[in-house]
Amino acid sequence: MSKHFLSIENLTQRFPDGQGGTLTVFENACFGVEKGEFVVILGHSGCGKSTIMNILAGLAEPTEGVVKMDGFEVSGPSLDRGVVFQNYSLLPWLSALSNVTFGVRARYRDWTKARVIEESKTYLSMVGLEGDVIHRKPSQLSGGMRQRVSIARAFANHPKLLLLDEPFGALDALTRGTIQDELLKIWGGTEQTVFMITHDIDEAILLADRILLMTNGPFARVAESVEITIPRPRTRTGIVDHPNYYAIRNHLVHFLGERSKALSGQKAEGPQRPETVRIDRTERAVDPDPAPADTPRLRAVNT
Ligand SMILES: Nc1ncnc2c1ncn2[C@@H]1O[C@H](COP(=O)(O)OP(=O)(O)OP(=O)(O)O)[C@@H](O)[C@H]1O
Ligand SMILES: [Mg+2]
Repeated sequence: MSKHFLSIENLTQRFPDGQGGTLTVFENACFGVEKGEFVVILGHSGCGKSTIMNILAGLAEPTEGVVKMDGFEVSGPSLDRGVVFQNYSLLPWLSALSNVTFGVRARYRDWTKARVIEESKTYLSMVGLEGDVIHRKPSQLSGGMRQRVSIARAFANHPKLLLLDEPFGALDALTRGTIQDELLKIWGGTEQTVFMITHDIDEAILLADRILLMTNGPFARVAESVEITIPRPRTRTGIVDHPNYYAIRNHLVHFLGERSKALSGQKAEGPQRPETVRIDRTERAVDPDPAPADTPRLRAVNT
């Protein structure tokens, strides 16, 4: 059961509902993530995406169930898991640069101060922050700038698992595109595994190997795991011409528009595993000698 790099086993989260009762956000959720995979989770507001991510980060305890990474149970935060939070969470008393060097210094204890600063500046410049601006405190930065510092901080630490909670939400379209490209470059050149939350369907298709679809809460379920059968490297303009693009997109839109609601609120018994959905309109789909269903996998091959 725990052969996956990241293994989510029978995860249940309940909270007090504020009226003396209990809110079950999700129950017995089970899924795995492979090493090097880029997984995106899509679902409506309030279904429990950030709750799952906080548990994966080791920042929150589930009511029941466990998360294992590399076979070890996740408990408490670790430098192996880098998080970009929905609300950026920078240290307010430190400059943008120090917010990044803080983590790099903890990660690479034998590095000289100069090397730590150089590395941190490299990642800040990758997200478009250079010059005077990196010496400002978070309160002196715009929302989008803060988000970029938060992204630089996570990337600079080379965590085995990168957890991204709507990391590009506060960015304008142009910056968003640039940082998506940087993310793909960083991920393509490493063994990193990425688990990301977004509300943007097109962003999800561009980036993901696999999209997990969540039904609405309470008793939300990770109902489907949709493989993105579009080869890499992908570009924003190139993917729309691929025969699978609209078929996948329509499936996602339909799920979020109708099925996420229709399937919601259903209390179910036993482990809740997502159903694998593979949509492939290319010739491979009618291969007379098809490979077993779960072997063909799109690996990280970005240039
Ligand atoms: N600490 C808490 N105490 C009580 N209820 C909570 C707590 N944290 C989250 N919830 C509830 O759990 C549910 C899921 O919240 P969560 O933040 O995971 O949603 P989300 O899918 O990330 O939504 P969004 O897309 O808006 O960020 C919501 O109903 C929320 O009100
Ligand atoms: Mg959230």
